[in-house]
Amino acid sequence: MKIINARLRHKPELYTVTIADGKFSAIQTQQGELAAQDGDTDAGGNLLCAPFVEPHIHLDAALTAGEPAWNQSGTLFEGIERWGERKPLLSEDDIRSRAMATIELLVQNGVQAIRTHADTTDPSLIGVKTLCAIRDELKDKITLQVVAFPQDGMMASAEATRQMEEALEIGCDVVGGIPHFEYTRELGEQSVKHLLALARQYDRLVDVHCDEIDDPNSRFLEVLACEAMFHDMGARVTASHTTAMHSYDNAYCSKLFRLLKNSGINFVSCPTESIHLQGRFDTYPKRRGVTRVKELRDAGMNVCLGEDSIFDPWYSLGNGRLLRTLDFAMHICQMMGYQDFASALDFITDNSARTLCLENYGIAVGNPASFILLDGEDDYSVLRKQGDVLLSVRNGKVIMQRRPAEVMTAPWITPPAFARH
Ligand code: FE2
Repeated sequence: MKIINARLRHKPELYTVTIADGKFSAIQTQQGELAAQDGDTDAGGNLLCAPFVEPHIHLDAALTAGEPAWNQSGTLFEGIERWGERKPLLSEDDIRSRAMATIELLVQNGVQAIRTHADTTDPSLIGVKTLCAIRDELKDKITLQVVAFPQDGMMASAEATRQMEEALEIGCDVVGGIPHFEYTRELGEQSVKHLLALARQYDRLVDVHCDEIDDPNSRFLEVLACEAMFHDMGARVTASHTTAMHSYDNAYCSKLFRLLKNSGINFVSCPTESIHLQGRFDTYPKRRGVTRVKELRDAGMNVCLGEDSIFDPWYSLGNGRLLRTLDFAMHICQMMGYQDFASALDFITDNSARTLCLENYGIAVGNPASFILLDGEDDYSVLRKQGDVLLSVRNGKVIMQRRPAEVMTAPWITPPAFARH
């Protein structure tokens, strides 16, 4: 396979990218535009980019909004209640059909690696079993990581604690947690220490729903970061959401950032979910409730963006388009400067790949030939246009191809070429 007239991120020239035996074999600068020969794929000056990575989603809950009841208040806590009513209706077929439909949606939008949470507080562990089975079935087609996630609290009962361990025995890749939802602060701290001990015992990654609340006194992030640092696990540990950080006092946050930087942990923010769920107990002014994405990034920490939900009890929109999530983040977190735009795709590509500890990710000779082709010439134009994913190639094989829609406009509406933007 040879792709001509491709642009690469942060480079102005056109490139020819050659693929052999499922790997990138050559990446060469072109002297101007080339005419396609037989068998060439013409990128048409569009951006060849590393695949999108979805670092935080709940495939077991996806596509269940309104079943059996809608979340009327829009709060995280009512979402947990509504999900509690849906859980008894779960079956392997039910989870499998919804998870596969959601994976298809993600693949159609350029995603090739997914980290999904799976609820371990359902006694049957059907979500864990089904998602681990799907992961194994799709292992040559897509990267799927399954997080053992104790939705109702890991320390809520002896059974909940035991089921976490059972989920790891079944084969979850990542240990999760929800310390801010445990009954007491003390139990929350215990849960963080316990889940990190489980990660060491089973040699797994860590991804905690951490401080997903507007309470400025919810400070489990410092416990997670400190434990990760003391056990030298930072690169393998992720704090998801951390929305309480939005409400932390600046003096505390300044002190906290030193620990976070030293710990080397990763961060996932889900801006569409958080702007919807947080601030629900405020009148006005109403908090945005999204963690400090810009400040964490500017302090040199690894931050990436996920969707969290697609049509589930917590969030009844969502469409698998991480570019939409990115667009929200740029607005909500006030990252609207030129330099912000110029590197925006980091949040849904390289940074997420680092969070998931993906190996051999990226467009480089010798790496697996996995990439997407985006409608746009650079980060800025792809973001502004919300460019379609035109092509998705995994290990040298096409897994998705999109023909752009043809839109006709009346002659009077088409401006002269020089006036187009
Ligand atoms: Fe989540």
